[in-house]
Amino acid sequence: MLEKVIKTTQFLKSNGIIDPVAGIVLGTGLGGLAAKIENPLIIDYRDIPNFPVSTVEGHEGRLIYGDFGGRKIVAMKGRFHYYEGYSPEQIALPVRVLKYLGIKSLFLSNAAGGVNPSFEIGDIMIITDHINLMPNPLAGSNDERIGPRFPDMSASYDINLINKAIEIAGQNGIRVRKGVYLGTTGPTFETPAEYRYFRVIGADSVGMSTVPEVIVARHMGLSCFAVSIITDLGVEGKIEYTTHRSVQAEAAKAEARMTVIMTGLISSL
Ligand code: HPA
Repeated sequence: MLEKVIKTTQFLKSNGIIDPVAGIVLGTGLGGLAAKIENPLIIDYRDIPNFPVSTVEGHEGRLIYGDFGGRKIVAMKGRFHYYEGYSPEQIALPVRVLKYLGIKSLFLSNAAGGVNPSFEIGDIMIITDHINLMPNPLAGSNDERIGPRFPDMSASYDINLINKAIEIAGQNGIRVRKGVYLGTTGPTFETPAEYRYFRVIGADSVGMSTVPEVIVARHMGLSCFAVSIITDLGVEGKIEYTTHRSVQAEAAKAEARMTVIMTGLISSL
């Protein structure tokens, strides 16, 4: 695994990706941020050795390096989900490559169902913690050069970044919520009974991404910041028919607000 990571990292460095301070996983709701990256150097996942290629409509596959918030960043436009059939290794590799390129922090966004009854569609939820109900991407043999066999997860979401994000949101009149994100494999959206169950066990939002990437990032000691856009509600009496399209439409409405928060955060690094 490490050999593959190093080979891919060397390829990207030799193509001009030098010393990024932060990585951004442009999930649903942050795709528009890509257009705000200045002096972009764009590399298609297809052209990157060992990189998987994403298969979901609306999820592209490009690595974008450039200036954002006055910092050098590298963004993944397109991510890899378990429901697409990727192995834990395939899911881990891109995040490991970002770390070996030199990033110190990883920023992620996702679209999620809200199970906290006080949430509304369109809300932005800053993730303070997660519950992992997906296969663990670190299962299998461990390479101590990458990280420890039993990584700590007691403070997975960087409290300083969370506080800074709340401050930036306040200064810009953006309402944010805080809460626990539950990661499930999908690809099915939840039944009403499953939404109820997720609420009972402590979730505020539920989605099909982010958790594996955060686990892989924390294994290597990267600081993480993640947000959910609440695109539908898994709350009794408010559950509506959900489609990929409705999720994307709701997420798009939050893009401008998300971009303000991410720009502020990254320029504060
Ligand atoms: N459940 C799971 N994943 C999701 C949802 C949901 O309700 N909304 C957007 N992604």
